[in-house]
Amino acid sequence: MRSFQVFFDIDQQTTAAIDLFISLAHNAVEKRGLFSVALSGGSTPKALYAGLTEPARQAMLPWDDIHFFFGDERHVPADHPDSNFRMVQEVFFSKIPILKDNIHRVKTEMDVRLAAFAYEDELRSFFEGHWPSFDLVLLGLGLDGHTASLFPNTAGLNEEYRWFIANHVRSQNGWRLTLTKNAINAARRIVVLVTGQSKAGILSEVLTGAQEPYQKPIQLITPTDGELIWLLDREAASQLPPDLVI
Ligand code: 6PG
Repeated sequence: MRSFQVFFDIDQQTTAAIDLFISLAHNAVEKRGLFSVALSGGSTPKALYAGLTEPARQAMLPWDDIHFFFGDERHVPADHPDSNFRMVQEVFFSKIPILKDNIHRVKTEMDVRLAAFAYEDELRSFFEGHWPSFDLVLLGLGLDGHTASLFPNTAGLNEEYRWFIANHVRSQNGWRLTLTKNAINAARRIVVLVTGQSKAGILSEVLTGAQEPYQKPIQLITPTDGELIWLLDREAASQLPPDLVI
């Protein structure tokens, strides 16, 4: 199931994302006793992460029952400026009462392939299932149509069996680590956060243009049984046909 929600500006889109996060967390903890989230890197989700640290919102969340994973990571040290963990640690984790054991960091100090295998082992032991059924996977959209670290024309797009892999990305001059398309698609909910005029073109291309998933990997994101929710601001949605987002 796919839905689109367009908001007047980033502030309203962020508020909606915060409210959705809190609602999903309560539902998951009520039903299954915990809430598993795969976080996105990049700049777009920072407002969501920061908003969740506000005292009134913090008080609404069952932190001890929330487990944070990473949808992707750069193969750099955890304190490197490019590290998604470092960004989330600074903006989010350092400001909330989250148990250290509930933060599942990708061990990028390891060889990249070993780090991918180690993280997949951690996922498999956490989910105990055939595929990782995250309650929520947060994604962004790159200007080249990538999401997580599934970049155009990279070998990682072909992976059918693994959950988490090392993916060499020539356009990024190095190695990334990422959930595979099948691991993302096994989620209960996938929320894609896209804001700003700069994303209007690529967003229209991926949603209304030709199906070319090797060039636009976010087109590979089609949840198996879960829900795909696009949370957009007006600027990012400005080139979408009106009938698509009603
Ligand atoms: C990353 C993200 C990546 C991001 C997009 C959009 O590690 O950078 O996982 O997939 O979501 O590149 O990034 P912005 O939000 O900064 O535009």
